[in-house]
Amino acid sequence: MYIESYGCQMNFSDSEIVTSILSKEGFDATKDITQADLVFVNTCSIREKAELTVRKRLEFYNSIKRNKNPKMLVGVLGCMAERLKEKFLEEEKLVDIVVGPDSYRDLPNLITEVEDGRKAVNVFLSLEETYADISPIRLRGNGVSAFVSITRGCDNMCSFCVVPFTRGRERSRDPESIIEECRELFKNGYKEVTLLGQNVDSYLWYGGGAKKDFKKASKDARENSVRFADLLEKVAKINPLLRVRFSTSNPQDMSIDVIDMISKYNNICKYIHLPVQSGSDKILKLMKRGYNRSEYIKLIDDIKKRIPDCAISMDMISGFCSESENDHLETLSLMDYVKYDFGYMFKYSERPNTSAARMKDDVSDTTKQRRLSEIIAKQQSHSFLHMNDKIGQTLEVLIEGVSKKSDQHFFGRTTYNSTVVFEKKEKKIGDYVMVKIENCTSATLQGKII
Ligand code: 5AD
Ligand code: SF4
Repeated sequence: MYIESYGCQMNFSDSEIVTSILSKEGFDATKDITQADLVFVNTCSIREKAELTVRKRLEFYNSIKRNKNPKMLVGVLGCMAERLKEKFLEEEKLVDIVVGPDSYRDLPNLITEVEDGRKAVNVFLSLEETYADISPIRLRGNGVSAFVSITRGCDNMCSFCVVPFTRGRERSRDPESIIEECRELFKNGYKEVTLLGQNVDSYLWYGGGAKKDFKKASKDARENSVRFADLLEKVAKINPLLRVRFSTSNPQDMSIDVIDMISKYNNICKYIHLPVQSGSDKILKLMKRGYNRSEYIKLIDDIKKRIPDCAISMDMISGFCSESENDHLETLSLMDYVKYDFGYMFKYSERPNTSAARMKDDVSDTTKQRRLSEIIAKQQSHSFLHMNDKIGQTLEVLIEGVSKKSDQHFFGRTTYNSTVVFEKKEKKIGDYVMVKIENCTSATLQGKII
């Protein structure tokens, strides 16, 4: 089998689960697509562009199937499979299998169905599936840093977002299985785990089931429930040499306990990805984000008060429905207030069936693009400020690999998630080193091991 992944980290993590399920069926993974009997593409629906990328890849698989490997089966996994369901089979004649994010356990059966000459679809969304008992097979990794999924789905229903439709209701994974997976990773030489979920701050374990059913759980289950801050602490306690990161936080759900836990444990990285999407109250309301500008700013202030050097990043959308020039200026002024360390910035892309799809997508593409460029330019100047600030400091770096530009150099990351490049000396991948920062660009720091 050959598997390619697009979209968020959760998708990459899911592909490791799929690989694990299929390896039990006797499939070996190959990196050479022309050798594969089974080709899977794990897809993303977040923006139209993401879907177009996948369509292009399907054309490419088709050319391989025609010219080199006529017996090859093609499966579409993930969010686009969930969104389009059977329609995929009509639209893309070469696709044999369509499987949504909660149905990967069914893959062996579906493959058998296809081998019997049928097309196979399973897009059932579950209230319980967390793949808790499946040990992911980590194909792409560096052996140092791994993703560990802790929740699936999302109940937030932001008006622009397709995720609640493609990944279903929110549910949390059994903390014991999470700790066990992290322990095992550390035993195998890993030094960093990133706890993954669409909305990690709303992690809530009360013995299983969907988040929305918590109120119906027994008193005992509710009193013994585990929340995200508790989980973070459990993972941090595994070993001080195991770094802990997490993504993604939602401003509406992030609690002070989580911030306190970051400051309490040295091995919980001082970096929070806190998507804001807009700086305008009017737009935040239309987006159904569940917080306003001043609540968001209060949260940022709380973080900075408790952890003055905490790095913060954001996601931002330009040109959402009815966004005026003034709304856009509010976004820029919020950025000036927060001065994010990093940013992931996008043009609004209307997604079918979302509640925003019923609003008018009335900002022209030219305006969306211009506003996006202004947001990106501002972010670059802020990123550069933060990078520049680090010059002269000596920072702990976890070595993750050999630099792409020079085999005499390693790269790694600081607690703040910034990448540092430095001369190898006699160190090795997976070591922690202290690096004195001497120079920077807006994306990387350069320094010397001391
Ligand atoms: N259009 C543009 N960007 C989007 N995102 C989510 N949905 C859309 C959309 N319809 C962005 C948000 C989110 C990130 C993962 O993708 O910024 O935080
Ligand atoms: Fe894309 Fe969202 Fe699905 Fe991740 S959850 S693959 S970002 S649509």
